[in-house]
Amino acid sequence: MPQSAARASETRQWNRLMDLAEIGAIAGNGVNRQALTPGDRAARRLMVGWAADIGATVSIDEANNLWLRVEGSDASAAPVLTGSHLDSQPKGGRFDGAYGVVAGLEVIAALHDAGIVTRRPIEVVAWTNEEGSRFAPGCTGSMSWAGTHDVHHWDEVRDQEGVYYSTALAEQMKAESDLPRRPLGSKPYAYVEAHIEQGPILEAEALDIGVVTGIQGSRWFTVTVSGESAHAGTAPVSLRKDAMIEAMRAILALSEAMHDPEDVLRFTVGRLAVSPNASNSVADSVTFSIDLRHPDTETLRRRGDTIPDVVRAAMRACTVVVRESFHADPLAFAPAVIDQIEQAAHAAGFSHRRIASGAFHDAQFAARVCQAGMIFVPSRAGISHNPAEFTSAAQLAKGTEVLLRTVLALAG
Ligand code: GLV
Ligand code: MN
Ligand code: MN
Repeated sequence: MPQSAARASETRQWNRLMDLAEIGAIAGNGVNRQALTPGDRAARRLMVGWAADIGATVSIDEANNLWLRVEGSDASAAPVLTGSHLDSQPKGGRFDGAYGVVAGLEVIAALHDAGIVTRRPIEVVAWTNEEGSRFAPGCTGSMSWAGTHDVHHWDEVRDQEGVYYSTALAEQMKAESDLPRRPLGSKPYAYVEAHIEQGPILEAEALDIGVVTGIQGSRWFTVTVSGESAHAGTAPVSLRKDAMIEAMRAILALSEAMHDPEDVLRFTVGRLAVSPNASNSVADSVTFSIDLRHPDTETLRRRGDTIPDVVRAAMRACTVVVRESFHADPLAFAPAVIDQIEQAAHAAGFSHRRIASGAFHDAQFAARVCQAGMIFVPSRAGISHNPAEFTSAAQLAKGTEVLLRTVLALAG
């Protein structure tokens, strides 16, 4: 493990995170800075300014991923890539995503301060729309970059106001037309992402660092139940095609069908859209989301494949359409990167353990392109996707120290 004079600054990193947290700040220390909004743009501008301070080159690609790059001594060497996302959930915290981007910036800032040039270039990326809360699914930036989907694959996806993903993307690209463009896709030497754990394990075991072994699989579905609007006071219940009641039947049937005695399968219905959404009209349409996760590929496939039948069986007078919008199989990170992170944590004198990720991350798609891994820091009470999300400045700094050491080892 290389010893170096480079020192990441706990204070600078924390101050930058707090500056970012002011953009889209909501009650309870939270953040609402969803993808491709003015807040997202403002956060990216902050990053661009900080990158300029250390002479990093800034560019964006066709998926609006934001790239900061510092050159290495070997111009032909593939870069080491690190980063995460700046977009948040509608009721999100200050650290989910933003931490990994700011930690990456802190790594190149620390090297800049110490006058260290690595052999390989180092790139820091802020991926577009990791959360998928405004435009489903998430990870559209990293999937476009990794080539799993064309960048136009989600053009027709709309947010709750009816704005198309393609429109919001074009708007943001236009707002950033002063930034140089780079081609979509690249082949880094390795990818390492720092992130808060978003679960309770590290804190419960009083550990500094999680060396992430892999990410459980996820599937997202959109279910649309169609009925007929009618007068709440006059239409006999027996004659109604009530999309609300039948959607509720479907959700309850699903929650029973997805019960797992071992409590490993994760089933969530987090969004419901009702039309016409009026107290005295029978609903003619209800759309709801399903987020299903499991660490085993076959179990995720098998349980998820039953969803359309369960939903159809719950219908009485309504019709239903089930559409799958996202399917990411469970992923194991590269053993060499896992070992490198573990060695870095050990060399820094931090307590650590191997841990699996319940959340999905852009690293899942970077791993299709190059060797990849992740570093977790503890989350207070395991709380995330919640304004109360918290990790202390000192805990975050430890994660960044491990990131710095890992990037140095990989970049030479
Ligand atoms: C990421 O935000 C996830 O939902 O896992
Ligand atoms: Mn995240
Ligand atoms: Mn998240």
